[in-house]
Formats: sequence, C-alpha cells, structure tokens
Amino acid sequence: MTSANNYLQNKLNERLASGSYRTLKAENDLIDFCSNDYLGFAHSPALRQSIETEVNNHPLSLNGSTGSRLLSGNLQYALDLEQQIAAFHGFEAGLLFNSGYDANLGLLSSLAQRGDTIILDDLIHASAIDGARLSNANRYSFRHTDMDSLEAKLKASKGNCYVVVESVYSMDGDSAPLTEILSVTEKYGAHLIVDEAHAVGLYKQGLVFELGLQNKIFAAVITFGKALGCHGAVVLGGTLLREYLINFARPFIYSTAPSFHHLASIKMAYKMLSFANTEINQLKNNISIFKKNIAQSITSPLIPSESAIQCIVFKNNDDARKAANTLQSAGFDVRPILSPTVAAGTERIRICLHSFNTLNELNLLTNIINTLINAS
Ligand SMILES: Cc1ncc(COP(=O)(O)O)c(C=O)c1O
Repeated sequence: MTSANNYLQNKLNERLASGSYRTLKAENDLIDFCSNDYLGFAHSPALRQSIETEVNNHPLSLNGSTGSRLLSGNLQYALDLEQQIAAFHGFEAGLLFNSGYDANLGLLSSLAQRGDTIILDDLIHASAIDGARLSNANRYSFRHTDMDSLEAKLKASKGNCYVVVESVYSMDGDSAPLTEILSVTEKYGAHLIVDEAHAVGLYKQGLVFELGLQNKIFAAVITFGKALGCHGAVVLGGTLLREYLINFARPFIYSTAPSFHHLASIKMAYKMLSFANTEINQLKNNISIFKKNIAQSITSPLIPSESAIQCIVFKNNDDARKAANTLQSAGFDVRPILSPTVAAGTERIRICLHSFNTLNELNLLTNIINTLINAS
C-alpha cells in the first residue's frame, strides 16, 4: 500500500472502531420519517406535471445552461425568478446558488475580510462553518442560542462583524430567538445572517418573514432541497449585496449555471408553496400529535422543538443505532445521528415529520419510541 492509501485506510479504521463509519444506502420503501421533504413536494405528481408543462412551454430552452452565469449560462428567466423569489420572502434582491452549501460558502467566504469577525452559533450547519473558514476573518462561536455568550463574543469583535444563525436548527429542530438576537446584534453594530433552510415551508415564507424582520437583517439563505422539494438555494438581501456576490462569491462565479429544467422546477415549487396552506396545516397538526404522543417528563429525552425536526437523545452511538434499528424493523425510515456529527452523549434518533404522515403511522411510531424511552 502507498503511504497515501495507508493514511486513508487508517482513517477509515478509526471510523469503524468508533462506530461512526458512513455508508451510502439505496432508497427503501419504509415509511418516511427521515427526509427533508416536509410538504411532500419532492414526490408530488402535480408538481412534476407543472414542471413538465413549464418546460414544454419553453421549447427553445436548452438541456444544459452551457456555462457560468457570467459567461454563456445566464437567462432572463433566472433574473426574473430571482426577483419573484426575493419578493415572495419580502427582500429587495436575491441571487441563486447551486446548493445551500454553495450559498453559505459563497456568502461567508466573500463577505468577511481579514480584520473582520464572523460569530457563529455552536450548532450552525457545516456549510456556514466552512464558509467562515474560507474567509480570512476572525471566527468565534457562541453557546447555542445563548444571548450572554453571543454578547460576550460581540464585545470582542473587530472590524465588520457578521452573526450567523439558523432560524430552525437542522440537528436539534429548535428555533433561534431571532428578535433577541437581532437586538443584541444591532446594539454592537453587527450584521445578522439567517439560514432559513428548515424554516421555509413550516413558516411558508420563512421565520424572518413571519416575524417581519426582512428589512433588519443583512441576508437570509433559503434552500430549495427541503420543503420546496427540489434543489438549489438563494441568498436574499439588498441589491448591493447581490451585486457584490456576483463579483466576489467564488461558488457563484466559477460554476456552471442551473439548467432551464432546474430553474423551472424551482419556479413551479414556489408557485405550489404559495398555495400550500392545506399541507402546511397538516404538517403543523402532525407536529402537535407527535409531541402530544411522546411521554413527557422532566427527564424527557425529547429535545424541545416546535418544528418538523424532533429528536430523541440516547446515551451513546450504540443505543441510538439500536433504537433506529428497532424502528426500521417496524417499517419506519428513521436514522440515527451519531457522534461526531453531534456531540458525544447527545447521539439521537432524528425524526422528520411531514404533511403526508398519517395518524396511524404517527401513533405506531410514537408507541415504539415510548417503549424505547422507557427501556433506556
Ligand atoms: C441549515 C442548513 N443550511 C444549509 C444546508 C445545505 O443546503 P443544500 O443541501 O442545499 O446544500 C443544509 C442542508 O442540510 C442545512 O440543513
């Protein structure tokens, strides 16, 4: 074995030994309590049909975009779509990215310069951490949703300061206290950036819109791969920010633009979201049934959450994996979230609720979870 291959094998062996080895699994026919398809858009025949109709209505559209948007890949359709999406969320302007990962990477790596400061919530998504790492700014993290900890970091900040939070946290499902965060951020003249990946859908236009904070925050990131059921992302903010990102955000500049089909999918998904009150109410109803069904106590292992993400914490990787196996054997697609993805001692099963989960499915699932909690 070469020394490089030796290194790879040793790292994989470490993963195997710690019980955190990752593998790719093909799709299954278990009942979905795992995907981000909160409103069922990804498998909606109506959405599929409207995308097909939109593509057929543009017979001159190409299969691929043929280049970066700064070269041959831009379309008037993309420019119009950005305007429509920005208006839907109550912002002045928006710029599309190929994924939420790219959006956070492009935004944070290009904004903050040497001498500036980025302050991230402890539980922020990896894409924001990677974006901050790629910038030359000072980086701090504050204790999850802890205002005192945030204020201490703000006091120590230098240069232009950006505070980055998620409105609904992807691993715990809890929400950031956005109004309080905004007021402490404003007190120190810092700029707030909100990742709305898991909030859009449950809150139709996002939690920022729900709270009327669009004009007060610096930027929002919306991803299309979750409640919108497709793929891609947009950074929302002012026109100045949009122009800046077009000039300096490397994942935007140096990547092939989305195809027409991709743009049409996003446009039709937004159209569907604007009329999705029934699905949103079904999702909210399923969240309250789930929470009511899980036996509550002071020592409840259920992480407090009002969102579609509900987590039951176990003691270690082994217990979390066993709980997930029991649920999978009973027909439910539930995945364990293991350390190092989450901190050791907070390994969990992460349940994603959807508008389309039935009452019977919810009752069966929560019965088994209650048995697992009692046995642990
Ligand atoms: C909070 C958050 N931000 C960003 C992303 C990345 O989005 P995408 O999957 O579109 O790359 C995710 C996806 O898991 C996420 O949960």
